[in-house]
Amino acid sequence: MSVTISAPDAVRVPLLPPPPLLAVNGLSRSFGPGCPRCEQLTGDAAGTSRCAACGTVIAVHEVSFEVGAGEVIGIVGESGSGKTTLLRSLHLDAVPGAGSMRVAGYGDLFTSSTPRTELRRSAVVMVHQNALAAGLSPGLAAESNVAERLLSTGCRNFTDARGQVSGLLEELGIHPSRHADPLGTFSGGMQQRVQLARALVSPPRVLLLDEPTTGLDPSVQADLLETVQRVTDKLGSATVVVSHDLDVVRILASRVLVLHYGRVVEHGIPEQVLDDPQHPYTQLLVASRLR
Ligand SMILES: Nc1ncnc2c1ncn2[C@@H]1O[C@H](COP(=O)(O)OP(=O)(O)OP(=O)(O)O)[C@@H](O)[C@H]1O
Ligand SMILES: [Mg+2]
Ligand SMILES: [Zn+2]
Repeated sequence: MSVTISAPDAVRVPLLPPPPLLAVNGLSRSFGPGCPRCEQLTGDAAGTSRCAACGTVIAVHEVSFEVGAGEVIGIVGESGSGKTTLLRSLHLDAVPGAGSMRVAGYGDLFTSSTPRTELRRSAVVMVHQNALAAGLSPGLAAESNVAERLLSTGCRNFTDARGQVSGLLEELGIHPSRHADPLGTFSGGMQQRVQLARALVSPPRVLLLDEPTTGLDPSVQADLLETVQRVTDKLGSATVVVSHDLDVVRILASRVLVLHYGRVVEHGIPEQVLDDPQHPYTQLLVASRLR
């Protein structure tokens, strides 16, 4: 009698990858009234993101991507390509025209019934290019800028708050002797770190960074990038970094999206996209950097 030996079921079932921490789907955002011709009159072929018929700017068009826990995704593109609009949409500054933004444990943030202020504490935080745009006060001590955020999360014990704030600032490389100095007396790189400390008061699922190194000198840039990497690893957050500096993306990101007139024209791992670009616009972007 012959016996057929079959593989156990567990071997045949393909392993599913873990669900992404952040999944953005079909995100679109425009400024203007919109008309039936907007889509056709904007984008690559039209060479503009402004619709000639109605004047609407299609800032972001049908952008989709996923980011895993502890992963950094980079978004590059020239000035006006929609990077900040995309990031602001993910920071819930306004409901976009279309699309969804699913964050593990929270569902779609665009339609969530949880108040936006709450989502901006725990689900998604943003480090702005400009500390003042982030709502920081230049006249207040660095530690107070961070403590303010901590107190707004419900912490009422001032001794605890102080200890936590100074621990965070120190971890991000701000020496204790500077914690009480007004934020306005800090360098750009230090202000970015204070913003990060503020963002990390309640560790977010999704960390958004807009041009984190612009205006910083190379050694400070390297330090800051290392900090972002460390924070992402430690928190296991899904980090989205927008930059027009291709090196920033090369160093930090495991995947990169290239935005052009609000559309994703190319995506992949940095080595592939930046060393062997396929889309003419990416080729131009890479070449212009080498000139
Ligand atoms: N509030 C607004 N009202 C009207 N148009 C806007 C608004 N915000 C952005 N835009 C337009 O949307 C497009 C994308 O702008 P965005 O700021 O997202 O570009 P960016 O890629 O961040 O550029 P940069 O590298 O210069 O920061 C631009 O054409 C811009 O003029
Ligand atoms: Mg921008
Ligand atoms: Zn139009």
